[in-house]
Amino acid sequence: MLDHGAAPPSTEPPAAGGPRPGSGLMRRKPVETLVAEGGQGEGGSLKRSLGMWQLTMISIGATLGTGIFVVLGEAVPKAGPAVTLSFVLAGLTALFSALSYAELAGSIPVAGSSYSYAYATLGELIAWICGWCLILEYGVSVAAVAVGWGQYLNEFLDGTIGVTIPDALSAPPGDGGIFNLPALIVVVLAMGLLLGGARESARINTIMVAVKIAALVLFCVIGFMGFKSGNYSNFMPLGTAGVSGAASTLFFSYIGFDAASTAGEEAKNPKKDLPRAIMLSLIIVTALYVLVAFVAVGARPWKQFEGSEAALAGIMKDVTGHSFWGTLLAACAVIAIASVVLTVLYGQTRILFAMSRDGLVPKVFAKVSPRSGTPVANTVAVSLFCGVLAAAVPLGNLADATSIGTLFAFALVNVAVIILRRTRPDMPRTFRVPFGWLVPILGFLSCGYLMWNLSGVTWEYFGYWMAAGLVIYFGYGYRRSRLATASQK
Ligand code: ALA
Repeated sequence: MLDHGAAPPSTEPPAAGGPRPGSGLMRRKPVETLVAEGGQGEGGSLKRSLGMWQLTMISIGATLGTGIFVVLGEAVPKAGPAVTLSFVLAGLTALFSALSYAELAGSIPVAGSSYSYAYATLGELIAWICGWCLILEYGVSVAAVAVGWGQYLNEFLDGTIGVTIPDALSAPPGDGGIFNLPALIVVVLAMGLLLGGARESARINTIMVAVKIAALVLFCVIGFMGFKSGNYSNFMPLGTAGVSGAASTLFFSYIGFDAASTAGEEAKNPKKDLPRAIMLSLIIVTALYVLVAFVAVGARPWKQFEGSEAALAGIMKDVTGHSFWGTLLAACAVIAIASVVLTVLYGQTRILFAMSRDGLVPKVFAKVSPRSGTPVANTVAVSLFCGVLAAAVPLGNLADATSIGTLFAFALVNVAVIILRRTRPDMPRTFRVPFGWLVPILGFLSCGYLMWNLSGVTWEYFGYWMAAGLVIYFGYGYRRSRLATASQK
């Protein structure tokens, strides 16, 4: 659906000077202003250094991680061998929203991802809420993922040198420890890479993504050796309800495909490359997930998945008869999860960068170092926040809130596509969602459905999170927003 046609003249009010669309809580930021400001921070600008390949790797890096390495133990008992269908179903939900992301990323290629798309279409309050939800998707999930990294590190150390980090130093207070040191270490390592520059981080990420894809391909090859078609004799033992229940559980493993859209101001050719990177990464990830699930159930009867936290490592060990393979997979998981931490942390810094440039959070988040072309203070502050959260707070239910916040942001992106099609039909779009409004509507409904399926306690935490966000917006952003201060001049 690439569309390179020339655009008719814009009907949007001018970026500077003239009246701004909407007012008060509904004030919107014209698309042209968003795009014109692209890359500009306080005291310097971001460097455009990322090509299509690196953007695709950023999205795969943020998506392929904890989920696929641990989720089968939870999902297979719900769906049986039909878990492959659950992966397809969750992948379709992700696909609807990915198409909408691709259209908006191609037309508004800025750092703020769905926050910026909402600012251009739904007004400042909804944009703030969206940005606040993205902090759940990115900032809080970094902390949750970093905790998972520590667990795999322990498994790897146990398998190689027979030593593990004691609980006191690998769990937070409340979970039987004092401090989760490995979780803090992985966040600090990621911070170090990000401070070196987006291009350098993208290079390391590409290597890590190659390792995790190779690990899953290796799993498929070894798993096929133990494949028994009899394991598929009763394909859907728990019916369609089991398949859709497992799809909600699995959705976590698809979160992250939108990470490339936070790199809009560092991409060399964002209008073309962002939509391609988002779609390509989702296709690669979905294909891998379906294949891994198909092989896993072929190699191990579905009833034996119950309670197995490291199903993939266990299957490799069972098929080969050697614990070496389980340790190798744990090593790959350590690398895989580190790349999720790196790319998601990157995304969080860029979203705050955009929010800060708009005046909704303090200016320090938009300061760019002229030397490295990166937002240094922002990166350090976000990393410390995520590192301390990961090290000292038992995340439990807050981590569950990651999915609800993400789904909410995805739902808004689908709405934003519909609104922008109505208000700016003239705008040049390098990618268009096919079948008109059908796909964004399906995207919106499927996100709503998965949100509906989440537990009451998750909704409760989400409610507290949103209330805190509104207090901050009305106490700070509403008056300091650049749109507010510009209209007073
Ligand atoms: N999709 C990411 C993961 O599975 C969050 O780790």
